Amino acid sequence: MKVNGKDYRATWWDGDAIGFIDQRLLPHRFETATARTLAQVAEAIRNMAVRGAPTIGVMGAYGMALAARNGDSLDAAYDLLLNTRPTAINLKVGLDAVRSVSPDPVAMLDAARAHDDAEVAAARSIGGHGAALLTHGSRVLTHCNAGWLAAQDWGTATSPVYTAAREGLSPFVWVSETRPRLQGARITAWEMVQEGIDHRLTADAAAAQLMRQRRVDIVITGADRIAANGDTANKIGTYSHALAARANGVPFYVAAPLTTFDRDTPDGEAIPIEERDEDEVVFVEGLSDDGVVRRVRVPPVETLAINPAFDMTPADLITGFITEVGIVPATPDGIADAFRRPRPS
Ligand code: MRU
Repeated sequence: MKVNGKDYRATWWDGDAIGFIDQRLLPHRFETATARTLAQVAEAIRNMAVRGAPTIGVMGAYGMALAARNGDSLDAAYDLLLNTRPTAINLKVGLDAVRSVSPDPVAMLDAARAHDDAEVAAARSIGGHGAALLTHGSRVLTHCNAGWLAAQDWGTATSPVYTAAREGLSPFVWVSETRPRLQGARITAWEMVQEGIDHRLTADAAAAQLMRQRRVDIVITGADRIAANGDTANKIGTYSHALAARANGVPFYVAAPLTTFDRDTPDGEAIPIEERDEDEVVFVEGLSDDGVVRRVRVPPVETLAINPAFDMTPADLITGFITEVGIVPATPDGIADAFRRPRPS
């Protein structure tokens, strides 16, 4: 997608290093950064400068290629990168795609590039399939950022919106702010501004009320890992939206490439859920009136917090998966069928 008239992916190979957009600084600053060492790649994923399931998979893939080029131990590189974030299976898929052609650094970089391009092709194709669910002026509620920054380009949940906008359907997006790290308020809202999409920010807790008032036509979220039975891990708060959607008869779709499906994990209970530092709940950061970005503590200093980064939405709450090979039901058969279909190139 374009930023200030220039085409970007969330991460890219930059000669002998990896370039990336530092997503922690959005929306108030747009800056790119460079990872030259394996440790810097791991840190960028861990601190969420680079985030979103498909994007961390691509970053991991380039990280393996960088490790080969720098003469690092490839087994150690694989373990280090795999353990940066436990929930999104795309990270493992990206690492495996490149490790499978090791140790030749040239072949590994080619594999990383191919993985990157395949994720972008998938995201774009998700847009075509998902846009068919929208009509003129559809009001879409989305959670977190399953946008182009989370999927290298186009996004997963946002791709149907961007595609529909290009088809003249004028979609409207409710952006769920997504406490604690506010990926909706900070990143999805920024993407909507960049793309000129009509949108409105909503507190996470307001989403159920908007659904009850018939102001949401469809919910589309992304996913970090989809188990063999269709249970889906995604950003904390997704499950609440799914429950509210079911209670109010609103269709709830999960948009994800096939790299997010983990058929080796039988159900959602077996998906590891990342717990992050309580500081992410206790502190909030934003632009103050004097134009400076500040971080402030909200609760009393004595108060502790808990910070599960993801939750699990049971398959029976999901209307369908929007994938690059079409829309499939959230059932084992639906998933198996998706893997039999030809993938876009
Ligand atoms: O913790 P994050 O910001 O990496 O979590 C991101 C999400 O939960 C996204 O919805 C998911 O990765 C899908 S991205 C296309």
